[in-house]
Amino acid sequence: MAPVGNGKTRLAVSGLLPLWSRARVLILDVKGSYPELQVGVVRSDFPGRLIRERDDHGRRWYRVIVPKEVEEGRRVAYRCLARAYNERNWVVYCDEVVKLSRPRPEGYGLGAILDQFYLDGRYRPVTLIAGTQRPANVPQAVLDQPTHLYVGPLHDEYRASRGGEVLGDRHLRDELKRLQRFDWLYRYAPDNSYQTLRYGADHPGGA
Ligand SMILES: Nc1ncnc2c1ncn2[C@@H]1O[C@H](COP(=O)(O)OP(=O)(O)OP(=O)(O)O)[C@@H](O)[C@H]1O
Ligand SMILES: [Mg+2]
Repeated sequence: MAPVGNGKTRLAVSGLLPLWSRARVLILDVKGSYPELQVGVVRSDFPGRLIRERDDHGRRWYRVIVPKEVEEGRRVAYRCLARAYNERNWVVYCDEVVKLSRPRPEGYGLGAILDQFYLDGRYRPVTLIAGTQRPANVPQAVLDQPTHLYVGPLHDEYRASRGGEVLGDRHLRDELKRLQRFDWLYRYAPDNSYQTLRYGADHPGGA
C-alpha cells in the first residue's frame, strides 16, 4: 500500500514475483497500458490448465487484461480468481486491488473471493499479491492477513494513522510520515517484525 507513483507495481513485478521462479503467475491487469506492467503472455481470459506458452524470459507469467465494462470485467476477473484458487499452485497479482474489490459500478465487486484467498489460500496453496493506493474499499483480510506487508510514505496525519493501524501499531505513523519516495515500511507478520527498506537497482544496498 502506497500513494501514487511510489513504486508498488515495480516492487511487485521486479522484486516479488521473480521469487516464485517455478510458479505460474497470473496478473490481473485492470489498466492495460500501464508501463511497469508490460510483462507476461497477454491473455483475454484464464490461461487454462494445459498451458505451454512461456513469456520472453521463459517464465510462466500470464497477464489477463480485464475488460473495462463492469459486468464483462467482473466475469473475466471472477473466473480467473476462482480457477486459480481451485487449480492451486498459482501466484495471483492484483495490481490495483481496489478496482477489483470495490462494489459495482465503481469496481467489479469481487471482495468476497479475494477474502477467500487470504483466509485459506496458504493451505491450497495459492498466493495473492495485492497493491493499493489506500486502505478504503479493500477487503479487511487483504490488510490484516498478508504474511508480507509493505506500506509506503504517508505524510498526512489521517493516512499515516490508518497506515499505522494497518501495520498493527498506531505508533508506526511517525515512521510512515518520515519515509521518502520509494521507501517502504515492511512488516513480516509471523514474528511481527518491522524493517524500513528501499527497493530498486537505482539504490545500491537497498533490499
Ligand atoms: N525503487 C525505485 N527507484 C527508482 N525509481 C523507481 C523505483 N520504484 C519505482 N520507480 C519508478 O517510479 C515510477 C512509478 O513506479 P510504479 O509505477 O511502480 O509506482 P506505483 O506505486 O505502482 O504507481 P501507481 O499508484 O500509479 O500505480 C516508475 O517510473 C518507476 O520506474
Ligand atoms: Mg502501480
